[in-house]
Amino acid sequence: MDQEEIPAMTDVSSQGPRPDDRRDVLTNRQGHRIYDNQNQRTVGARGPATLENYHFLEKISHFDRERIPERVVHARGFTAYGYFEAYGKWGDEPISRYTRAKLFQEEGKRTPLALRFSTVIGGRDSSEAARDPRGFAVKFYTEDGNWDLVGNNLAVFFIRDAIKFPDVIHALKPDPVTFRQDPNRIFDFMSQTPEAMHMLVNLFSPRGIPADYRHMQGFGVNTYKWVNESGETVLVKYHWIPKQGVKSLTEADAAAIQAHDLGHASKDLHEAIERGDYPEWELVVQMMSDEEHPELDFDPLDDTKVWPENDFPPQPVGRMVLDRNVDNVFAENEQISFGTGVLVDGLDFSDDKMLVGRTFSYSDTQRYRVGPNYLQLPVNQAKSTEVRTNLRDGQMTYHVDGRGENPHVNYEPSINGGLRESQYPTHDEQGPLIEGRVTRKRIPRTNDYKQAGQRYLLMDDWERDDLVDNLVTNLKQCDRPIQERMVWHFLLVEDDLGLRVGDGLGIAPDDVKHLKPLQSQDLTDEDRQRLANLG
Ligand code: HEM
Repeated sequence: MDQEEIPAMTDVSSQGPRPDDRRDVLTNRQGHRIYDNQNQRTVGARGPATLENYHFLEKISHFDRERIPERVVHARGFTAYGYFEAYGKWGDEPISRYTRAKLFQEEGKRTPLALRFSTVIGGRDSSEAARDPRGFAVKFYTEDGNWDLVGNNLAVFFIRDAIKFPDVIHALKPDPVTFRQDPNRIFDFMSQTPEAMHMLVNLFSPRGIPADYRHMQGFGVNTYKWVNESGETVLVKYHWIPKQGVKSLTEADAAAIQAHDLGHASKDLHEAIERGDYPEWELVVQMMSDEEHPELDFDPLDDTKVWPENDFPPQPVGRMVLDRNVDNVFAENEQISFGTGVLVDGLDFSDDKMLVGRTFSYSDTQRYRVGPNYLQLPVNQAKSTEVRTNLRDGQMTYHVDGRGENPHVNYEPSINGGLRESQYPTHDEQGPLIEGRVTRKRIPRTNDYKQAGQRYLLMDDWERDDLVDNLVTNLKQCDRPIQERMVWHFLLVEDDLGLRVGDGLGIAPDDVKHLKPLQSQDLTDEDRQRLANLG
C-alpha cells in the first residue's frame, strides 16, 4: 500500500465537529458512532473500496429499500391528527337509543384520531388539483380499539358491486400502453355502466375538484349499521360537514394551480395547522330502520344513491378538529392503513355488496403493501386500549403483542394461563332475518338515472354550465359510439343535460334513438317514458 495516499490524521479531524458543537452524534442502527459520513473506506485515497464498509453498505442498502409499493389507489395523500368530540346525542335524542359505541355516548368526550386525505387515481407525486374523488379516511383511536371511517368527498360511487372495482380503476388509470389517462377508455367503461351516471354528474361538476382538503365534505358513502345495548340495529350513513365551508375549483383554476404546484392541498392543510388555524368538521348521521324499505324507489344498500335529506334528516353527533401535523410523512402517511372492517362494538356492517368487497381488500393490500405486521406500527396501533393477541412472528415483527401471564401459551383455549375470550357484550344482534337463494343477480331497484337528474336540477346555473363544458371537452376525445351512448344516458338522466352535451358533440336525440338498453340495466317506467319521447 502506498503510504503517501493515506490522508494525514489532521485532514480527518479537520472535517469533524467543532468543540462547541452540541448537536447529537450520528450513529448507525446498531448504535455505533459514525466518525466519517463523507468518505467510504478505501484502499488509499483513490480506492478501490473494501467490502467490509459496514456503515456505507448499511446506508446504501437501506436507501435502496426506501420505497414501498404505493397504494394501488389513493397513492397521493396527506395525514394530520386531531380529536373527535361527541355530543352524546343523535339530534335531540340520546344516542344510546341507537348505538352503544362508547366514543359517541358522553357529551364532550374526546377521542384522538388521524385523518388521511387523498386523491384517487394519480401516483404518489401527482397533482392535487386533478378532477378526481378525494379520500377522507378517519382512524379513531377509541377505548374499544380502532374505528376507521374510510370515506370520500362525494356522496356516491361509480359502481355498486365490488367485483367491478378493478375494472373501474383500470379504466380511470393511465392506458397500459401509452401511460396516459384517456377519456376514451374512461367513457368506454362508463358508457357500459349506467349506475355510474350519478357519480359522473358529481365528478364533472365543480365538486369534482375541491379547492383544497379543508374546504370539502366527507361521506362514508356505504351504508353501515348501529347496534344498541339490546342488540337492535338501524341503517346509517355518515357525512362530515366542514365548518370552513365547501369550495371548489373550475378546470381553469385548477390548471393555473397545478402549473406551479402539484401539492397545494397538502401545503394548505399543513400550513393552516402550523399557524393554529385548526380545521373542523361536524359529523352528521342519517338513519333508517334496518329493513329493505320497499316503499323507496332505491335500495338503501346501494352506494350509487343518496338518502333524501327530507325523509332521512342528517343529525349531528359530534365534531372533529385537526390540530397536529405528522412528524414524518413516510411513517405516518405512507404506512397508515385504513379499512372498512375496522369497527368497534356498537357499529356494524350492512349487506352492501361494495362494503363486503372493500372490507376484504383493504387489509389484504396492506399485508402486501406494508407487511404482515402493519398493525404493530405506531400509527396503526390501537392507542387507547391494550392489544393482546396470539398472532406471532412474520416479517418485521416489532414486538410480542400483549399476552397472558404464561409466555408459553400462545394459543387459546388453555388451562395453563394465556388469554381468554371476552364476555359477549349483550344480547345477540337483532338485525333482520334474511333468506334467499345463492345467486349472481343485480339488486332489484337499480333506478340508475333519477337521482342523477335530481342532482343536475339542484345545481346552480354556473355549475350546470361547468358540468356540460367538462363533459363535452372530455367526450370530444372519445369514439363516436361512446359519445352516442353517453348522450343516450344523459337524455335519460335529464333532457336538458342530454340535449346540451349532445349539442356540444353534434349529436341529436334522433341520432341515438336506435340504441337499445344495455343488458346490464333495468329501466324504470319513467326511463321508458323518456326513451319513448326520444323517438
Ligand atoms: C384506498 C379498495 C371503494 C375510499 C383503497 C385501497 C384499496 C381500496 C385496495 C388502498 C389501501 C391501502 O393501500 O392502504 C377499494 C375497493 C372498493 C373501494 C375494493 C370497492 C369495492 C371505495 C369507496 C370509497 C373508498 C366507495 C369511499 C367511500 C378509499 C379511501 C382510501 C382507499 C379514502 C385511502 C385510504 C388511505 O388514505 O390510506 N381502497 N376501495 N374506496 N379507498 Fe377504497
